[in-house]
Amino acid sequence: MSEKVLVTREIPDAGLRVLEAFDVAVLHERPPERHELLEAVSGASGVLSTATETVDGEVMDAAGEALKVIANMAVGYDNVDVKAASKRGVVVTNTPGVLDETTADVAFMLLLAAARRLGEGERLLRAGKWEWWGPKQLMGHDVWGKKLGIVGFGRIGQALARRATGFGMEIIYHNRSRKEEAERELGASYLDLDELLETADFVSIHTPLTDETNHLIGATKLQRMKPEAVLVNTSRGPVVDEEALAEALAEYRIFAAGLDVYEDEPAVHPKLMELENVVLAPHIGSASVETRDKMAVLAAENLAAVLRGEDPKTPVEA
Ligand code: NAP
Ligand code: GLV
Repeated sequence: MSEKVLVTREIPDAGLRVLEAFDVAVLHERPPERHELLEAVSGASGVLSTATETVDGEVMDAAGEALKVIANMAVGYDNVDVKAASKRGVVVTNTPGVLDETTADVAFMLLLAAARRLGEGERLLRAGKWEWWGPKQLMGHDVWGKKLGIVGFGRIGQALARRATGFGMEIIYHNRSRKEEAERELGASYLDLDELLETADFVSIHTPLTDETNHLIGATKLQRMKPEAVLVNTSRGPVVDEEALAEALAEYRIFAAGLDVYEDEPAVHPKLMELENVVLAPHIGSASVETRDKMAVLAAENLAAVLRGEDPKTPVEA
């Protein structure tokens, strides 16, 4: 009898085709309720999860002895308790590398939209309130030639830097470790976080969510930013203190923000919803047809490899 695999959300067919040899149960288009996940996972050897499911020790125990692999269809794996998995001998995998360019596109899109007040302009137009072209109307800030500060200079951070060099931007970065090769390739300079925040015209966050990065950007850090600066976050919501950000934006202590991720998704802080100077996207960083296919295939290949007794392509280190 083939092994049971639980796919927690509807995923692109390309991923499901990889799993044809297994007994696959697919849950819903929507995220499963906790009790649905705990029931459905029983007896599964493999779980293909997404960032919306918390996969902790309780879920692993509900799966039972058969569980061998949790293949997360995301590069971020803050939703999976990797230590609990390791304790139970369960392999965890993620989907690095296949979504870098697509997510960097969204970061740059948010940066441009926030700097040039696109959301505000579109709302004005759609409300039928655009009465004339005006010499002082909707003036934003130039992007070209400005200084971009990238916090978390990994795959996506560097993909963003490649885009920014095409706009003649100067790249400064902060990262846990120095990236000397990327510094040479991109002409990027390393700064500590406070210096970066004080000098950058644009700040874009690309760290994973960990204990160290939770609220990395809070009230004190926001105070260091220039009043004309723009903050972009496509990493994970809790890396930025949303309440502090909403206050800074409301008081124009920074010019604008572009966000793809939120502290309590799908809820968005009510103060942010009211502000004109923030562009809000519903966590669409990797949401292109091409990239979601690649993510689904990579997650499924990782899962299938472990069930076949082989090494997965992209395991997460415990
Ligand atoms: P990555 O290649 O691992 O890059 C992350 C970088 O952050 C690494 O260079 C790492 O430094 C650095 N870092 C880690 N902790 C840090 C800290 N405390 N202070 C400063 N730098 C720190 O990851 P990635 O593939 O670029 O993805 C980054 C994150 O983006 C993911 O974890 C995920 O949460 C998010 N993401 C969101 C979307 C979306 O749809 N919005 C899509 C994809 C990814 P080291 O090199 O020293 O480890
Ligand atoms: C998406 O948010 C990811 O981490 O891949």
